[in-house]
Amino acid sequence: MSSVVSQPVAAKLTKAAIFLVATINPGKENEAAVKALCGDLAALLRAVGFRDLEGRLSCVMAFGSDAWDRLFGAPRPKDLHPFREIRGVHHAVSTPGDLLFHIRATRMDLCFELATQIMGRLGAAVSVADEVHGFNYFDDRDLIGFVDGTENPVDQAAIAATIIGEEDAAFAGGSYVIVQKYLHNLKGWNALPVEAQEKIIGRTKLSDIELDDAVKPASAHNALTTIVENGEQLEILRDNMSFGEVGKGAFGTYFIGYARAPQRIEQMLENMFVGRPPGNYDRLLDFSRAVTGTLFFVPTATFLEDVAASAPATAEPAVEDEAGSRRPAPDGSLGIGSLKHEAGHG
Ligand code: HEM
Repeated sequence: MSSVVSQPVAAKLTKAAIFLVATINPGKENEAAVKALCGDLAALLRAVGFRDLEGRLSCVMAFGSDAWDRLFGAPRPKDLHPFREIRGVHHAVSTPGDLLFHIRATRMDLCFELATQIMGRLGAAVSVADEVHGFNYFDDRDLIGFVDGTENPVDQAAIAATIIGEEDAAFAGGSYVIVQKYLHNLKGWNALPVEAQEKIIGRTKLSDIELDDAVKPASAHNALTTIVENGEQLEILRDNMSFGEVGKGAFGTYFIGYARAPQRIEQMLENMFVGRPPGNYDRLLDFSRAVTGTLFFVPTATFLEDVAASAPATAEPAVEDEAGSRRPAPDGSLGIGSLKHEAGHG
């Protein structure tokens, strides 16, 4: 494990992020294009990130269960499976996704440029299922007005919570990630008295202090998402971001949670959507609807580099033809294109 380098799963929280979820189109050439990108990602990141080193640009690339089988086959990470929907008091939907790019930086322009370069490289090989440009709202709050991320593990604890160890030695250094896009009923939420909101979250709104156990309901969000096994709290690392479209009345939180075992996040979701005990569910869900839900495996950076080394020479990038549809570059060039070209096709 000492010789492998993990992807920047536990990167520090940032002001901006892009969440790009894509499916790989049918065809071996499209799988080859994705494999070719795996090894080039680090170079793209260096090229864009170097334009502002203080911008802390980072990117995590992750793979869904079906995509893993198509691209890499056996061996496979032992806990990788498609996201399982949950039908409890509320519904956690399962939606398609072969690839996740979680791009973070202190500035959106850096995230945007890297996403553009990645998509320029993938071209017709993929279809984007969902793209969210997230921002960090005032005081690290989400759009429901509460500080989000306070109890995240940091430094070594973040790594211990997220990075696979000897429990799956072949994939040590990797991680799992679940994403869910939530839309809030802000009108309904804002109509609640602040004390009622605080009981739903389990913390005070302005000062972000955890409610005393004597007043915190068992259904509080931070109670249902605290899980303990053999006396040890099982932690995950979250990097939620706000997003929205004011004109459409769309106000959301993009949930992203990393863990060394997906069961941790799944247990939290079960507690939230079904309840612990069943029926004692998370009232935040009365005001927040999950419209996506996907699980991915995050291989190590070393794995990504090795994929490219073993990718067939036919793995050509895609470019756009005059009709605007994307196809592999005939000259086998790197096909990154000038920024001008790519920008023109957003
Ligand atoms: C609408 C979506 C969500 C919103 C707005 C939200 C918001 C919050 C807020 C405000 C806190 C308290 C501050 C903090 O410690 O970060 C919190 C804590 C937490 N949330 Fe969420 N959350 C959402 C979804 C989820 C989901 C889907 C999970 C897991 C599956 C989750 C897991 C956690 C955990 C583990 C904590 C820390 C609990 C503790 O140790 O005190 N959250 N969340």
